Amino acid sequence: MKQHNIERRGFLKQMAVTGVAAVGSGILPNSSKAEATPAAATKRKLRVGVIGCGNVCGSYVPDLLGNPDIIEIVSFCDIILRRAEAFAKRHEVKDFYPDVDKMLAGVGFDLLVNLTSMPSHYAVNKAGLQAGKHVWSEKPMAPTVAQGKELLELAGTKGVRFWQAPVVVITPQFRFMAEQLASGKFGPVVAAHGTYGHGGPDWSAWFYQKGGGCLYDLGVYNVTTLTGLLGPVQEVVGMTGMVTATRRCADQGEVKVEADDNTMLIMRHASGALSHVQTGFCYSEYELPPVNKEPALPHTIDIMCQQGSLHLQGWDWGPRCVDVAAPGNHRLQSQCKEAAPSWAGGASHVARCLVTGERCLITPGHALHVLDIMNACHESQRSGRRIATETSFAWPILPAV
Ligand SMILES: NC(=O)c1ccc[n+]([C@@H]2O[C@H](COP(=O)([O-])OP(=O)(O)OC[C@H]3O[C@@H](n4cnc5c(N)ncnc54)[C@H](O)[C@@H]3O)[C@@H](O)[C@H]2O)c1
Repeated sequence: MKQHNIERRGFLKQMAVTGVAAVGSGILPNSSKAEATPAAATKRKLRVGVIGCGNVCGSYVPDLLGNPDIIEIVSFCDIILRRAEAFAKRHEVKDFYPDVDKMLAGVGFDLLVNLTSMPSHYAVNKAGLQAGKHVWSEKPMAPTVAQGKELLELAGTKGVRFWQAPVVVITPQFRFMAEQLASGKFGPVVAAHGTYGHGGPDWSAWFYQKGGGCLYDLGVYNVTTLTGLLGPVQEVVGMTGMVTATRRCADQGEVKVEADDNTMLIMRHASGALSHVQTGFCYSEYELPPVNKEPALPHTIDIMCQQGSLHLQGWDWGPRCVDVAAPGNHRLQSQCKEAAPSWAGGASHVARCLVTGERCLITPGHALHVLDIMNACHESQRSGRRIATETSFAWPILPAV
């Protein structure tokens, strides 16, 4: 089990909000009311309830516990109660629950961290927001754009904050690339590419069943990065495939594959730039640098401009540096080698934003647009047509420099 997690950790080791409205939806996810959080007002720690005690929980919890100045985990919840109990016992947390309703009726908390499997995200997010909790959700926030809009509206009505993974826009490398592009010295962006894939998880069957798939689980990172850098998307063309007919997973044994495990997505951005994402659960595992060569990792994001180009080394959720072909000097130079925050650090990051009032670059409007794009990809596969998106988001993400 946890092969994917172990790979992520090995990979990382090796490498040494403000409010955004969904344009046209009338949604105000980050009302000024929401800025005045209970924790900020009373200067006490932010109380966190964690729901979904599976694979990724094992990475989130150490990160949350690494912020004892601001965060206190007060409860765990999982429909498989022994999982919640095991986390609670291991971390000396008294309260654990078998479902979200019992959790919300139990010991009080401020921030719900939703790490359940994708098909449960919408119902759990809705229950948390309805109960007046701030919510950090793993991606995607909901299966449909209509349900996503409903959640953003609910957060606005309740005066709470709602954020979604992934955390790619808070890396130093994202900031570096965004600032380079905004400087204008590279000229207009014309094309871009993102890739993320591996052999697929082997612990839970839902990844391969309806509501799962590689685009929502993996491609979502690249779609977030590329829209973050190039801006909103107007139309989408997608093709998806199922390379493997069945998969063996620890929880259910052999299961039929019903969701995409091999996906290509093409986007036309409002700027006119074209980008594409390739993602799969059917790739060989990570490529590593050749032995005895200067350490380098494969490029996973390529941004092609008329006067130069930017190439991200390492996955966008854990990048190593950016290789830059600057105007007039097309020999690649590695820049921005700063360590990135943990890919499992989103809940801690937003907790800190809640407590300090710091501006958060991760926004629900952006996540909703990413969901819209991913659903358009599937609709394009179903219909054989290019699909117009129905949302947009406030862009650029970074304030002007
Ligand atoms: N595992 C990773 O490496 C990884 C990395 C990044 C993001 N994610 C994302 O994190 C989420 C969880 O992934 P995972 O690998 O931990 O899955 P998992 O199957 O290992 O764990 C999910 C847990 O949620 C529980 N659960 C499901 N529905 C629930 C409900 N309604 N109420 C309470 N508990 C419920 C399940 O019993 C299970 O223990 C997914 O959205 C995934 O895309 C996973």
